[in-house]
Amino acid sequence: MPLKSRIRFPDPEPNSNEFTLGKMSPKFQKLVGKHVLVIGGTSGMGYAVAEASLALGAHVTLSSSNQSRIDEKVKTLQQGYPASKIQGFVCDLSRSSLKQDIEELFSKVGKLDHIVFTATEPPKMLTYDEITLEYWRDAGQMRLFAPFFVAQVGSKYLNPGPESSIVLTTGTSSEKPIAGWPVVASYAASLKGLTRNLALDLKPIRVNIVSPGFVETELWDHQPEEARKGLFEWIKTVTALEKIGYPDEIAEAFLWLMKDTNVTGSVAETNSGMKLV
Ligand SMILES: NC(=O)c1ccc[n+]([C@@H]2O[C@H](COP(=O)([O-])OP(=O)(O)OC[C@H]3O[C@@H](n4cnc5c(N)ncnc54)[C@H](OP(=O)(O)O)[C@@H]3O)[C@@H](O)[C@H]2O)c1
Repeated sequence: MPLKSRIRFPDPEPNSNEFTLGKMSPKFQKLVGKHVLVIGGTSGMGYAVAEASLALGAHVTLSSSNQSRIDEKVKTLQQGYPASKIQGFVCDLSRSSLKQDIEELFSKVGKLDHIVFTATEPPKMLTYDEITLEYWRDAGQMRLFAPFFVAQVGSKYLNPGPESSIVLTTGTSSEKPIAGWPVVASYAASLKGLTRNLALDLKPIRVNIVSPGFVETELWDHQPEEARKGLFEWIKTVTALEKIGYPDEIAEAFLWLMKDTNVTGSVAETNSGMKLV
């Protein structure tokens, strides 16, 4: 059972059309009419980014490995944002045909303004001594290889110029190690290097990355409830704000990186002050 506290940011009421923007100046309506692809958009932070983008007037395409989950999430979002174009396409990033699968995805999605990458699989918890070369290779597929090929292929579908962007996702383990997580920490750190390099390789398209601390998402649902509760309690003791993050909070970092046409090669940190403790 998901923990109740995640429901801080309920789905919109059907037909509420929360897309209404009031009288905000056009120069601050930078996502209105833009097309945002969220790879990993069916849950957690990706879903929050999708909804936040819709709330700011964007059109959204979701992608993940699970067609029925995509259909369910697209339907929910369509009820809340009936004036927006919302679609979804399956793309399983875990296969050896990774680049070809990504090419197929983008050929269906079409022209874009922003690509957000939040897809991940739950980390396989191995002890230090259990780590093998095969585990390193497997772990790299979603954590490093997929973001690279998404940028390589997807950049060709982005409208040229600094109004377009790619936003990747890493985590605080890229800087603050957690005992037993050398593989996750290594890929998390290397994603920051990849982001800076892509920002040069793909300029003037902007490439940035969000680095969250622990966030209450479906990622942790695979853990037994007691272990998850224990983890969330422990997080309070290792953060200055004594709290876990919530997807709607982290979505703000993605929005910043999409909207600010002056930011590239940068890391947006949002971690409840985890690095201070
Ligand atoms: N949650 C945290 O505490 C935390 C902390 C630091 C960093 N992060 C990072 O933040 C990012 C988002 O995490 P999250 O917590 O929002 O995760 P999440 O809720 O588990 O969402 C993961 C997304 O990836 C998709 N996915 C899973 N397997 C896939 C596959 N083989 N191919 C394509 N899509 C796949 C999932 O959809 P389907 O299952 O439908 O495919 C889902 O949409 C990840 O990079 C994660 O490592 C998370």
